[in-house]
Amino acid sequence: MSKQDTPSAHIAAQYEDVASTVIMCGDPLRAKFIAEKYLENPVLYNDIRGMLGFTGYYKGKRVSVQGHGMGIPSIGIYSYELFNFYDVERIIRVGTAGALSEDMKIGDMLFAQAACTDSDYGHQYGFPARFAPIADFGLLEAAVRVARENGYPFQVGNIYSADVFYDESNRQMKWGKFGVKAVEMESSGLYVNAAASGKKALTICTISDQLIHRKYASTEERRSSFTNMMNVALEIA
Ligand code: HPA
Repeated sequence: MSKQDTPSAHIAAQYEDVASTVIMCGDPLRAKFIAEKYLENPVLYNDIRGMLGFTGYYKGKRVSVQGHGMGIPSIGIYSYELFNFYDVERIIRVGTAGALSEDMKIGDMLFAQAACTDSDYGHQYGFPARFAPIADFGLLEAAVRVARENGYPFQVGNIYSADVFYDESNRQMKWGKFGVKAVEMESSGLYVNAAASGKKALTICTISDQLIHRKYASTEERRSSFTNMMNVALEIA
């Protein structure tokens, strides 16, 4: 599987239109914003279902940026097609997450070293036991280096990729006791797809909600932490 499966069911691009590194984010309009603000000569390669994807250049490097929607099934589709049909080597997800531990403050960056989940996405592989999805160490190490060089606040740790946003039983707070730093809804599926295709992935999140203290990022906090996260993602791309 690769070139002959392109354009794929959900991505209208020709095989050559997509760079070997793709930065992904949930909101397709955020992908457009990133492409227009940070990339030189961005070219739109997909608008099926409004899930915009662009390819351009950052400091001479060819980079794509593409929306992935919300939740594991959605990022599962897009990352599967990118890894397996477009032969993408690296996906760096940039997103937001809710803090599950006291030591994560609004605006902090989290590099998701591993991802717990309540999703059954990995079930398709029929593992004899549970698989532990992890980030690519090279991408993680590079992200840590860039964050340190720039003095950005960050942590490295476990994330929880939930299947539900509205957690009525509030059971997700238990993960914090096991050192899991934050909750979002995609990394586990992304890391499983990377592992299954022998490719690389990393999620970088900024904390938009402190769920223990029920605090939410201000517009200015969202803006400055987004800038830090983008600098890291683009430098390691
Ligand atoms: N839950 C799930 N995903 C999220 C959250 C949350 O509280 N905040 C940002 N992404």
